[in-house]
Amino acid sequence: MRALLAALLILSTAAAMAQDLRRGERVFTRCIACHSLEERGPTPGPSLIGIVGRKAAALPDFEYSPVLLEAGRRGLVWTEEALDRYLTDTEAFLPGSVMGYLSLPNADDRRALIDLLKTAR
Ligand code: HEC
Repeated sequence: MRALLAALLILSTAAAMAQDLRRGERVFTRCIACHSLEERGPTPGPSLIGIVGRKAAALPDFEYSPVLLEAGRRGLVWTEEALDRYLTDTEAFLPGSVMGYLSLPNADDRRALIDLLKTAR
């Protein structure tokens, strides 16, 4: 009985994780015009492969704005918390970056998106 319960718990956790990733993919449709999770090649925005835990403005082949370059020099790292704050209101967190204004007001959307970003390695 206990093994069965454990198995059910694992299954439902896996199902919840799959659902979270699907939600993340839905939210990522707001980013896909400019960012890729698959390719490191040229897109209008920097590749987001490995973004969680990456230093801001760290890709050598992308021309970042002075604002983002300066944030990177001052030590900004895209931790989950920093991404959560940035995606709540990009202009409030980093005024003048060339990504422009974007806001994901729903905390569950941001959580699901950040979980998806963590899978892009
Ligand atoms: C209209 C194009 C566009 C859209 C849409 C867009 N971005 Fe960006 N993003 C950019 C550009 C351009 C930059 C570089 C900004 C700079 O240099 O100031 C950037 C930078 C970033 C960075 C910093 C990357 C680094 O290497 O430091 C993150 C994180 C990011 N975007 C996440 C997102 C997410 C998540 C979404 C969707 C919710 C999104 N962006 C939507 C164009 C876009």
